[in-house]
Parts: sequence; C-alpha cells; structure tokens
Amino acid sequence: MNKTICITGGAGFIGSHVIRHFVNKYPAYHIVNLDKLTYAGNLENLKDVEGKANYEFVKGDIVDGDFIIRLFEDYKFDGLIHLAAESHVDRSIANPNEFIYANIVGTTNLLNAARHIWKENTEGKRFYHVSTDEVYGSLGETGYFTESTPYDPKSPYSASKASSDHLVRAYNHTFGLPMVISNCSNNYGPNQFPEKLIPLFINNIQNNKPLPVYGKGENVRDWLWVEDHAEAIDLIYHKGSDGETYNIGGHNEWKNIDLIRLLCKIMDHKLNREAGASEKLITYVKDRAGHDLRYAIDSTKLQRELGWKPSLQFEEGLDKTVDWYLQNTEWLKNVTSGEYLKYYEEMYGDDR
Ligand code: NAD
Ligand code: TYD
Repeated sequence: MNKTICITGGAGFIGSHVIRHFVNKYPAYHIVNLDKLTYAGNLENLKDVEGKANYEFVKGDIVDGDFIIRLFEDYKFDGLIHLAAESHVDRSIANPNEFIYANIVGTTNLLNAARHIWKENTEGKRFYHVSTDEVYGSLGETGYFTESTPYDPKSPYSASKASSDHLVRAYNHTFGLPMVISNCSNNYGPNQFPEKLIPLFINNIQNNKPLPVYGKGENVRDWLWVEDHAEAIDLIYHKGSDGETYNIGGHNEWKNIDLIRLLCKIMDHKLNREAGASEKLITYVKDRAGHDLRYAIDSTKLQRELGWKPSLQFEEGLDKTVDWYLQNTEWLKNVTSGEYLKYYEEMYGDDR
C-alpha cells in the first residue's frame, strides 16, 4: 500500500460514493473510513466494497479529540478527505449545538491530529476539507458564487461549515498545514438520507403522502450528480494546488417547484399512475426559517485548471435516482424506521 488515506463520514451519502470511487480506482491506497454512524451513516451504503483488501472501517467520533490523536498516531495517515458532518439545515434550526460539536470541534480535532503527525514533514501530505456553497449565503435572482465571494452564512449549518472552512485556512496560514477546500452545490443520487428534498419526496410520492413544499417553492438550488462530486474530489485531492479553494457545481439551477413537478411526472410514469396524480400531493407549508433564496455556483476555476466537468444531464440523473430508490425499498425501509419516524413527526407533524 503506497498511501493511507482517512476518509471521514464515509458511511454517509456523499462519503460512501467517495469511498467506493477511491477503493475501486486506487487499489494501492489503504482507505480508512472513519465514521460515528449517526442516524445519517449507514454501512449498507458500502456493502459492495466492505470485503476489499484496501478498505477498512473504523467506528469513531471526530468530536473525541484524544481518540482522534491516537488514531492518527496509529495509522500515520498520508492524507485526509474530511466529509463527516451534521449536514441537514432543518436539523440545525431545531438543534444547532450538534452542528457546533461535529462540524467545528470535530474539524479542529482532525486539524490538530494532522498537524501533530505531520510536524516533522509535510511532504506529500494533504488535508482535504469538503464544504458547501451555503457558506456564501444567499443570491438574488442573478449572479454566481465564485471562490472569492465573501462568506455570509445564514443558517446554523452553514455558519458551522463556514467556521470549519476558516479554521482549515487558518491552520494553513499559521502552521503551514497542507490543505485544499472545495465548496459544492446540492448533491443528489442514490443513498441520500430521505430527509433531504429529493429522496424525501420520492419516498412520500411512493407512499401517497403529502409533499411539504416550503413557502411558495420559489427557492432555487443548483443540483449535482453525486458521482460527479466524487470525481471532482479525486481530481482536487490529487491535482489541486496547496491552500486553494475550488467551487464545484453543475450549472443546473432549478426552482424547487419546477424540480418537484418534474419528479412527480417521472414518478407517475414509473408507478403507472395517471398523469398528474402525484402532483396532487403537493402541499404548501410554512417556510423554513431564514430560507436562503438561491444558490448557484461558478465552477470555472475547477473546469479550467483541473479539466473537470459534470457528466450527467439532470433529467437523466433524476431518472436514475428514482430507479435506485424504487429498486432499493429494503434500504429505504431500514433507514425510515426508528429515529426517522420521530424526526418526521416533529418536523412535519404526524398527519403528513
Ligand atoms: P450525510 O449527513 O449523509 O453524512 C454525514 C456522515 O458523517 C454520516 O455517515 C455520519 O455518521 C458521519 N458523522 C457525523 N458526525 C460525525 C462525527 N461526530 N464523527 C464521525 N462521523 C460523523 O452528509 P452528506 O450529505 O454526505 O455530506 C457530506 C459532506 O459534504 C458534509 O461535510 C457536507 O457539509 C458536505 N456537502 C454536502 C452537500 C449535499 O448536498 N449533501 C453539498 C455540499 C457539501
Ligand atoms: P434540502 O434538500 O434540505 O437542501 P438545502 O436546504 O441544503 O439546500 O432542501 C432543498 C430545497 O428544498 C430547499 O430550498 C428547501 C426545500 N425543501 C422543501 O421545500 N421541503 C422539504 O420538506 C425539504 C426537506 C426541503
């Protein structure tokens, strides 16, 4: 094995795609998946790679600083791709504290441990922090987020991610810790926990439950196929310049209500329902507090410097995503039992 890389949050949505990508593409790397297995982490996401010789899972909490130091001393990681986080905006509104611990304290523990084991030599080492476009705040009708857009986070989630981004840059500036950061737009695809818009609505349509559209459904998100994000992370990890930030996005903006109508149409077709049947489930509900109006990423730097580009058209990706959820009913059943039901009831009321 010529490199040992720790990927945090590998049992989550994006992390599982990144793990699969690295384990399959780089047999000479030892890939260590460090994950606490919160409600969002699920080892079922990685069934196809768990037996591979270059893959190992370690259950652990990044908030436990002593544990993290010991782990880094044991494994002497050459690199880290850090995705572990509390990631859902609505949960950050209901309970901000968890976000401060996992996203800020957790990231700082990893920075301290990396600094500790790389203090003699930083040659070939890299701390890759995976972040979000939400740190830039909210756009009006026009314009894009670039790497130099000032930070203006608006939710506890985005504020905690912004804080962790600043800490990563500060460790680079102050201690010379080698690092890169990427800020990506909304991801979609298989294995996303059904609290986020697309999998929640697929699940509800399938079960003939109301589709809770926040406000007027006019907020805009820029959607990217999750495997295109994993490919970008690979490129940036290997070819990105030290200390740099790269924006990742699909130039694929959708107003929520338009996306939801498209999803309903696809689902009517797949479920052999009469045209328009699923749209009848649309229910306008109270808006999310502080709801960001629009996100849109300018990924010119990544495309120009590292040659990345998205591979899938949104309609095709959404179709594939729906197929995955319809074919993986057992996965959906497992993740929507227990804690999920309690969350759903608190969030949307038990009549939805
Ligand atoms: P997710 O919620 O699906 O998964 C998060 C993973 O982190 C889970 O496996 C969970 O068990 C693990 N985790 C949480 N707290 C932990 C802790 N204290 N110690 C160890 N592991 C812990 O999240 P996701 O959507 O896959 O997002 C992954 C990363 O990408 C996050 O950092 C997020 O901010 C960022 N991101 C997400 C999106 C998106 O659209 N989902 C877009 C841009 C950036
Ligand atoms: P989400 O998937 O939570 O991602 P984010 O808030 O990080 O962008 O939400 C995407 C959009 O969908 C966002 O504008 C909020 C909206 N939304 C709803 O209208 N209803 C819902 O039940 C959820 C979860 C989201």
